[in-house]
Amino acid sequence: MAKPLDIVVLRERAPGETRVAATPETVRKLIALGAAVTVEAGAGAAASLSDDDYAAAGAKIAQADAAQGADIVLAVQGPEADMLAGANSGAWIVAGLDPFGRRDRVDAYAGAGFEALAMEFMPRITRAQSMDILSSQANLSGYKAVLIAANLYGRAFPMMMTAAGTVSAAKAFVMGVGVAGLQAIATARRLGAQVSATDVRSATREQIQSLGAKPIFVENVKGIEGEGAGGYATEMSAEYQAAQAELVSSHIAKQDIVITTALIPGRAAPRLISDAQIATMKPGSVIYDLAVAQGGNVEGSVPDQVVEIHGVKVVGYANTPAQLPADASALFARNLYNFLNAFWDKEAGRPVLDEEIGNAIRLTQGGKVVHERLLG
Ligand code: NAI
Repeated sequence: MAKPLDIVVLRERAPGETRVAATPETVRKLIALGAAVTVEAGAGAAASLSDDDYAAAGAKIAQADAAQGADIVLAVQGPEADMLAGANSGAWIVAGLDPFGRRDRVDAYAGAGFEALAMEFMPRITRAQSMDILSSQANLSGYKAVLIAANLYGRAFPMMMTAAGTVSAAKAFVMGVGVAGLQAIATARRLGAQVSATDVRSATREQIQSLGAKPIFVENVKGIEGEGAGGYATEMSAEYQAAQAELVSSHIAKQDIVITTALIPGRAAPRLISDAQIATMKPGSVIYDLAVAQGGNVEGSVPDQVVEIHGVKVVGYANTPAQLPADASALFARNLYNFLNAFWDKEAGRPVLDEEIGNAIRLTQGGKVVHERLLG
């Protein structure tokens, strides 16, 4: 029988990263496919998963040189090249690789002969939904953003009628209604806030209503559709941006909590809230900027800090899913397992990618950078 495929799970090195790319559950499943799995010692510690848990699932625990002999390396964030010493030529590096931010690392993967697969480039097609790390992590981010904002807010979310008097419900406004925004709406509603939301994609209007929130939309301006390839947002016209700024200005002044989630793939996050708009909000209000690491939706937001601007607390973790290490890891790990399983070729004893998904996510191959978005 051929030697089983060697899959290696690395311990994350990036500051503040608490997640891990495989759990004992997915290790068991990978072994059931026919692979051998090695987990670097301590890989799951920050997500409350011990080396013993992984060993009980059938993994070998590596104390040093974890990538030695790897055919596939699994990680949450792209490993630095020195972490990959000893991996086989042509080994797959499967992770969120931040190809635009860390082009140097992509070049290093090419130079070392690895096949780097950027999981954040997974196409938004139905069959790839279960492999989509952006969705699984954004969903948890939307939830956690609301909880963090709620904790920083000096008042309650739900209306409460007490013997000592009535506490009024918080008003929460969600800007950007993708995966994170939808979960933020649902979470704020569950906590009892009055919720409104906006997006540039008009298709979100019904989704907002179906969650019991109020849609706030720019009307009668050209370019309202705002939907580009793959269901993502496109950059809006100047006319639209001006109309949106005006609408937001009048609405935002009445809000207690604002959650911003707006992203445009491959570009800096759109600026949705200016310093002047923050100044119109009530002191004690809270803004959570989920796009803070991509340049920020909110003027003055700083990753991993609570900044007080005109009496408003502006906050945003650069890595919000890392604030929920256990669930974020469980979902991330399942995304990676679903990916490997979907392409597993029993005869070859390894996954073999098809063209549609392969071309979408493959950054390097045969010593070269091959992805069209990184060429030219
Ligand atoms: P995203 O993270 O790229 O952006 C977040 C939201 O911000 C989006 O709804 C976007 O329209 C909005 N936005 C961008 N610029 C804005 C602005 N100036 N003002 C207000 N809002 C702005 O989006 P995400 O969460 O990745 O989802 C985008 C779409 O893709 C959704 O319709 C989602 O359901 C769909 N999707 C499909 C998948 C599949 O079929 N496999 C997987 C994941 C998402």
